Amino acid sequence: MHIYSSTEQLQSFLNQERNKNSSIGFVPTMGALHDGHLSLIEKSNDLANVTVCSIFVNPTQFNNPNDLDKYPRALDNDIKLLEQKKCDVLFLPNQTEMYPKGQITEAFDFGPIENVMEGKHRQGHFNGVGTIVSKFFEIINPDYAFFGEKDYQQLAIVKRLVEIKAFKVKIIPCKISRNADGLALSSRNARLSKSQRATAPFIYKAILNGKLLVGKISPSELA
Ligand code: PAF
Repeated sequence: MHIYSSTEQLQSFLNQERNKNSSIGFVPTMGALHDGHLSLIEKSNDLANVTVCSIFVNPTQFNNPNDLDKYPRALDNDIKLLEQKKCDVLFLPNQTEMYPKGQITEAFDFGPIENVMEGKHRQGHFNGVGTIVSKFFEIINPDYAFFGEKDYQQLAIVKRLVEIKAFKVKIIPCKISRNADGLALSSRNARLSKSQRATAPFIYKAILNGKLLVGKISPSELA
């Protein structure tokens, strides 16, 4: 796996690949990788000739500095996992590479979707996501980009971003990966206390019960 921290080196590699008519798949992450991320890498490997994964903990999407400080970081293990999954390129930029003029966030008009659910509770979060994802799309110019349905609102925001900026990339939504007890895999699960971790799977159980009540699943699927 090639590891680049500089945009210039990454682009020079990608230009060589493009000259060979290779298609580029892109999986943006903030690291602390789990099987959910790795399923996106697999999907990209299936669809594209070259898979680029980025690991960058993006400060402008954290409205809470404590959350940014405590965000799990596990680079050595991430590199091992990506190598095992045969990811072609890891892009590992630092803050100055991504924000050479300081942490400036672009303001987007994502419409009503921006101010409900997560957007309502995390002021500026989606502008931060839009800012960094735009920067990555501009640098990498991928043919495909892979986003998990776990962050469903983020997926909708990214699709809107692609319309606003007329990016050529095709957004590929990817299914949620879950623990055996039903909890959706997330890097932030590492921050749950023992009792929070024990309670968290009830979210999925409640969703399944709701689906049962409206006839979307059968009782056997609840077990
Ligand atoms: O979903 C994430 O991990 C992040 O929001 C993303 C898309 C990598 C942008 O920083």
